[in-house]
Amino acid sequence: MTAPALAAAMARVAGDLESELAALLPPEDGDRLAAAMRYAVLGGGKRLRGFLVLEGGRLFGTGRAACLRTAAAVELLHAYSLIHDDLPAMDDASLRRGRPACHRAFDEATALLAGDALQALAFEVLARGEGPPAPAVRLRLLRELAAAAGAAGMCGGQMRDLLAEGRSLDEAAILDLQARKTGALIRFSCRAGALLADAGEEAVAALDRYGARLGLAFQISDDLLDREGATRETGKDVGRDDAAGKATLVALLGEEGARRRLSALYEEACEALAGLPGDAILLRELFQFVIDRRM
Ligand code: IPE
Ligand code: IPE
Ligand code: MG
Ligand code: MG
Ligand code: MG
Repeated sequence: MTAPALAAAMARVAGDLESELAALLPPEDGDRLAAAMRYAVLGGGKRLRGFLVLEGGRLFGTGRAACLRTAAAVELLHAYSLIHDDLPAMDDASLRRGRPACHRAFDEATALLAGDALQALAFEVLARGEGPPAPAVRLRLLRELAAAAGAAGMCGGQMRDLLAEGRSLDEAAILDLQARKTGALIRFSCRAGALLADAGEEAVAALDRYGARLGLAFQISDDLLDREGATRETGKDVGRDDAAGKATLVALLGEEGARRRLSALYEEACEALAGLPGDAILLRELFQFVIDRRM
C-alpha cells in the first residue's frame, strides 16, 4: 500500500498538474492536432516526474508556481515520448493509460505530429519569461532538459532499445540503455527542484544520485510489470517485452535477481537522500512506491 502521506501528496500534485497542463495545451476548438495532444496528456498517468520536480523544489523552498511550470514541461515531454514509443514502428502498442494509444484513437500521422508538437510545447513553456526562475536558471533548465531528451538521453536510449531487440546485451550495455531511455528524464526531474532553488552544486549532486537510482529502479519495475502485471492495473499491454526480444535486466538477471537489484538501489538512494537538507521522507517513500507499484 502506498504510504498515506505520499498518496495524498501525489494526488495533490496530479490535480494541480492537470489544471496547469489543461491551461498550457492548445484549446481543442475542432483542431485535430490539439485534440490529439490533449488526449495524450490529460486524464491519466502517475505524474511521477512532475511530482519529483515539486517535491525536490519543496525541499529547497522553491515557489510552487515555478515548480509547477517545470513539472508541466517534463510531463509534456514524457507524454510525447509515450506517443512515439507506442507507434507501430517502435513498440506497436495498442493501449496506453487504459485507453487506445494515440495512434489508435487518431492515426499514425496525427500521433507523430502530436508528439512533435508536445516536445516543442515543453520547451516553449519552460522558456516563457514571466516570474521566477531567474534567466540563468531558466537557461540551465532548458539545456538540461534538452540533453535529457535528446541523443545522449531519451532518444539515444530508445534507439539502443530498438537496436537491441533479439540481441543479447551485457549488463553494462543494458544499464546504459535504460539510464538513457528512462533514467535521463527522471534524473532531470529530480535535479530540477534544486536547480530551480539555485541551491548549489552539492544539492544538485545529491538529488542526481537519488535520481539515477530511481530511474533505473523505475525501468526495472516497469519490466517486471510487463512480465507479472495485469493490463487492468497498468493500463497498457503486458507480456510484450520477451516476445519482442527486449534487452532488460529482468531478462538478464531473472525476476529474483531484478528484485534484489531493486533492494540494493533503494539502499543507495537512501544514502543519497541523507545528504539533503530537510525531511526527504516522501522521496524515500516514493522509491518504495516505485518498487512495489502495480501500475
Ligand atoms: C512509462 O512511464 C514509460 C517508462 C519510462 C517505463 P510511466 O509509468 O511513468 O507512465 P505514466 O506517465 O504513469 O503513464
Ligand atoms: C519506454 O520504455 C521508455 C520511453 C522513453 C517512453 P517502455 O517501452 O518499456 O515503456 P512502456 O512499457 O511502453 O510504457
Ligand atoms: Mg519502448
Ligand atoms: Mg513501450
Ligand atoms: Mg515497458
